[in-house]
Amino acid sequence: MSGITGAALVAGIVGRPVTHSLSPVLHNAWIAAAGLNAAYVPLAPAAGGFPALAEGLRGGVIRGVNVTIPFKEEALACADEASPAARLAGAANLLLFRDDGSIFADNTDGLGLLAALSLQAPGFDPAAGPAVILGAGGAARGAAAALVLAGAPDVRIVNRTADRAHALAADVGGPVRAVDPGDALAGANVIINATSLGLNGGQGPEAELADAPATAVVMDMVYKPLRTEFIARARARGLRTVDGLEMLIRQAVPSFEAFFGVAPPAGIDVRALALKTIGETA
Ligand code: ATR
Repeated sequence: MSGITGAALVAGIVGRPVTHSLSPVLHNAWIAAAGLNAAYVPLAPAAGGFPALAEGLRGGVIRGVNVTIPFKEEALACADEASPAARLAGAANLLLFRDDGSIFADNTDGLGLLAALSLQAPGFDPAAGPAVILGAGGAARGAAAALVLAGAPDVRIVNRTADRAHALAADVGGPVRAVDPGDALAGANVIINATSLGLNGGQGPEAELADAPATAVVMDMVYKPLRTEFIARARARGLRTVDGLEMLIRQAVPSFEAFFGVAPPAGIDVRALALKTIGETA
């Protein structure tokens, strides 16, 4: 990294643990390629320490932060104003510390999800049919909110713990509903794994992909490994697939723009850099 001065613009990511986050890799690569006087740093407050950190950053101490597990709900709670995406998801992955002392919360995970889908499944239209989300945690909430805002006519939540699926449906509202695994996939436009199943090479979620239409797009938010068992199963059935790494990269783009006021520079392959960082080849 070159030439950080006292005038540098600073942003960061808050999470715990934050050690394995790819966000510093992505943002600092873009900063270097754009020649910005800026830095993006990891921050790991102790449990209970998030509100004090956010309060202390008011007034433009730094430009803003991305927020990851387990602080996304607290991030929304500490904001003075929030975007519709953050409110609907009930969580924020982006806080901006404005010069007037206020905190603005946004959620770019949904934009990341939709951008990854349109990049890796060209022509995909979220409004064209039912979406199926496997899981009912924070990641599933963000996906449900994004799909509702993008016009999905039916958003089906399938979860091991049915109560959590019902709670998600009640909170996000609109076309979101909890369904039984048995009849979830019929007519699906997109099927998204938002559980942690498949991480580090484990078995993916139970979903009878044979019930899905041949036109369905299958997405996995798990990106380590890049080709999860779920993605492999979808490909074996001839379905189009979208990976979670692209979603991670695409949620970082609007964050970078919000922090530094410019788009990430073209001509730098941050996907290759991220793959190298996580030890993947293709
Ligand atoms: P996140 O905020 O990343 O979404 P989370 O809130 O812990 O994390 O949610 C994890 C999701 O993975 C949940 O939907 C969870 O199902 P439960 O609500 O039933 O716990 C799902 N999940 C995790 N391990 C699972 C397993 N072994 N079988 C089925 N679902 C599992």
